[in-house]
Amino acid sequence: MKEPIRGADAELEARDAQALAGDAKRIAKQHAQGKLTARERVEYLLDSDSFVEIGRFVTHRGEGERPPGDGVITGYGRIDGRVVYVYAQDFTVFGGSLGAAHAEKIVKLMDHALRVGAPVIGLCDSGGARIQEGVESLGGYADLFYKNTLASGVVPQLSCIMGPCAGGAVYSPALTDFVFMVEGTSYMFITGPDVIRAVTHEEVTKEALGGAAAHASKSGVCHFVAKNDQQCLDQVRALLGFLPQNNAEDPPGGATTDPADREIPELDRHVPEESDKPYDMLGLIRKVVDDGHLLEVHPHFAPNIVTGFARIAGRSVGIVGNQPLVLAGVLDIDASRKAARFVRFCDCFNIPLVTWVDVPGFLPGVDQEHRGIILHGAKLLYAYSEATVPKLTVITRKAYGGAYDVMSSQHLHADLNLAFPGSEIAVMGPEAAVNIIHRAAIEAAADPVAARQTFIADYKKRFANPYSAAALGFIDEVIQPRHVRKRLALALATLSTKRDRLPAKKHGNEPL
Ligand code: HXC
Repeated sequence: MKEPIRGADAELEARDAQALAGDAKRIAKQHAQGKLTARERVEYLLDSDSFVEIGRFVTHRGEGERPPGDGVITGYGRIDGRVVYVYAQDFTVFGGSLGAAHAEKIVKLMDHALRVGAPVIGLCDSGGARIQEGVESLGGYADLFYKNTLASGVVPQLSCIMGPCAGGAVYSPALTDFVFMVEGTSYMFITGPDVIRAVTHEEVTKEALGGAAAHASKSGVCHFVAKNDQQCLDQVRALLGFLPQNNAEDPPGGATTDPADREIPELDRHVPEESDKPYDMLGLIRKVVDDGHLLEVHPHFAPNIVTGFARIAGRSVGIVGNQPLVLAGVLDIDASRKAARFVRFCDCFNIPLVTWVDVPGFLPGVDQEHRGIILHGAKLLYAYSEATVPKLTVITRKAYGGAYDVMSSQHLHADLNLAFPGSEIAVMGPEAAVNIIHRAAIEAAADPVAARQTFIADYKKRFANPYSAAALGFIDEVIQPRHVRKRLALALATLSTKRDRLPAKKHGNEPL
């Protein structure tokens, strides 16, 4: 005779159903706003049937209704077969607000991820600190911030903002490596429009204040913008394809039929002869990398510098490049901050850096000086100096002044520094230099215009070329552009066993 099964299947079924999400009305409201529910997001993000939930029946310990899960789904699953840890705040339960139990679930998830060495993905959709739980929810946030900080540089942390994210809650995403936002349905701010109106009398909408466009282009808080939830989650999957699981692993290789020694004849004509004529650095980079595929990071912020991930001969690389199409590719505060953070991410996670240089210098101006270009420019210098991953640099045209030093020069221990034949590596451009060092002679000349031209031609011959730097060993090789892919692929293969150590220290004191 069959033994009766101990326990109550009916209760499990009932609790299971309750743990799925809030009631039908709240789910319908979520859908009406064009948002997926937390569970639908997790399902969409992960490989099918790979999700394993942790803490499905956790509840808060306070008064009132206690829905299982406490407004956040936590667990692990796979993306392209690789393990990831995910939490998804459920706006249909307590508005996704964070109380003590909710925070404990996320922190426990992160502890798991740290032990396993797998990325953490947060899908944020929350009314913030759970008001009923008072200081306990503030404590929960602080526990989370602390864990984000400890996990930084150990496993990649990605945050998708897919609804409200306000008040101190914003600091968890801000501590993670990449922030994704969805247009129209997500916003982030410390204080919202109502408080701003009361305090500063400024009128602003939520979207204009802290929507995806504002954070992608103005504050720089957001790295990736998506049109809807699905696109956002697709972007997460695409990004993870370039990243290792943790800081002890190398990034995953990618299959490609693109030959490592592919010559690129059209590259010989990509960079204009005239040193002030714009051209597209992204277009140049896409011609070089595997299958023309570059995942641009932070495309709307400081577009005078480009950052992104690509592969060369199957190896993941972090790309940094001055963009002559925008502000002539000059380095300003935002460009320095953007690139510095990116360089540091790549260095944390063993992703070699390939830097493309065409830079007229740092941006002059009272505003830049007073807002601290000195400090912010130093961030990029610090990031490149401290990076011990393979560092490859290609000067495509101009490398002037301090910006030459900063952009992964050999002096910052880059491993390979290449220059195209037309490159100009000098303290400053010929026109400015001649005006300073030959001003008296030009003024005294019978024909000042002709004299100036002669001085410029002489300066170009002596300084504004790659050969003076190459003669000093600052440039390893001057190459025809068509050969650049082959050179980079070879260097990346050779440097794959690179080991470099910084002097022992607790940590440096970078100019924050
Ligand atoms: C508890 C909350 C909540 C919260 C929303 N809800 N926010 N419950 N604590 N913080 C509940 C609502 O009561 C409601 O429950 C349900 O979630 C959905 O909320 P609605 O207001 O109906 O949704 P909507 O109209 O879409 O508005 C969303 C919202 C609004 C703009 C986020 O709910 C809101 O302003 N919430 C408060 C935001 C806030 O001030 N949070 C504290 C921030 S300070 P029912 O049962 O009616 O469906 C903070 C400090 C962090 O977070 C500090 C860290 C250091």
